[in-house]
Amino acid sequence: MKKKRLIIALMFLSAGFSTIYGQEWVAPESEAAVVNPLPFNNATVREGKAVYEKNCKSCHGDPGKNNPIVLTPPPPDMASEKMLANTDGSIFWKLNTGRGAMPTFKGTITDDQMWQVINFIRKFDPRNAGKLTEEALKKGTLAATINSDSTSLDITADFQGAPLAGVPVFVQVKKAFGMLDIGKVVTDANGKAIFRIPDGTAGNAEGKADFVLTFGDEFEKTQAEVQGIKVAKPVTDNPLARGNVLWSTNDRTSGWLLFAYFFVTGLVWLTILYIVIQITKIKKAGQKN
Ligand code: HEC
Repeated sequence: MKKKRLIIALMFLSAGFSTIYGQEWVAPESEAAVVNPLPFNNATVREGKAVYEKNCKSCHGDPGKNNPIVLTPPPPDMASEKMLANTDGSIFWKLNTGRGAMPTFKGTITDDQMWQVINFIRKFDPRNAGKLTEEALKKGTLAATINSDSTSLDITADFQGAPLAGVPVFVQVKKAFGMLDIGKVVTDANGKAIFRIPDGTAGNAEGKADFVLTFGDEFEKTQAEVQGIKVAKPVTDNPLARGNVLWSTNDRTSGWLLFAYFFVTGLVWLTILYIVIQITKIKKAGQKN
């Protein structure tokens, strides 16, 4: 009798969970009908892409690649039918309300940025195929040299000898795993810019850094590199490589840590043993009656 009730309770519970997780997220009709005030064009899509990379990509992954982070329910891919079934107004409402692991962006990004990122999502909508004119990528050449006391990079941008004025140049440092953004400068009327290397820019073991400079997205991929610039003192003692940080063997582990580990696991096993003994006692007592 008791067992039956338990099974029924469990059934209700799991049904409850699956309805919460399986439930479609639907915006109210009046909100879904709200129209995007921004035009759908290369400029708004490009701005939306920047908003997406900064605020959404960490969870939703790369559009069309179906590589979101593991969450329940999963963050849908931006190019998926589920995402594109939303009207612009519906996405705007969802960004403002949030649900579960999906945060609300009200107050984090502006309304304009929301409509921009919505335009970026719309780019993956097959119904919009051909609506964005193919933008010819701009061309240019970048050159950079380090100044005499290794504190700044002197940058020159030109196209076939003519200076490129007012062009953003992005500066990154090569790391063991990819690139680290360290800043951006805009060229002056002569196509020149000076990038001050921030204090505390980390170098490799010898305290040297390799800088990579690139134009923004609207340019054909061009880059300039300035390599082996001394930015910091050589790293002589890497704390992560010290013996006691590598816990793979007992003799490298600190005594207190081993003690704490065995103490805690010992306690857990004792508790389990205690419970088992108590249960056997109850069982035995039950058999006597
Ligand atoms: C912390 C992780 C996280 C971030 C950051 C995030 N999302 Fe989400 N998003 C989710 C999850 C999880 C869901 C599924 C929520 C659900 O169905 O309950 C979701 C759902 C959505 C939906 C609804 C899809 C549907 O079912 O109709 C939209 C639209 C959306 N996200 C857009 C965005 C945009 C745009 C950004 C960036 C501005 C963003 N998300 C940032 C985790 C995230």
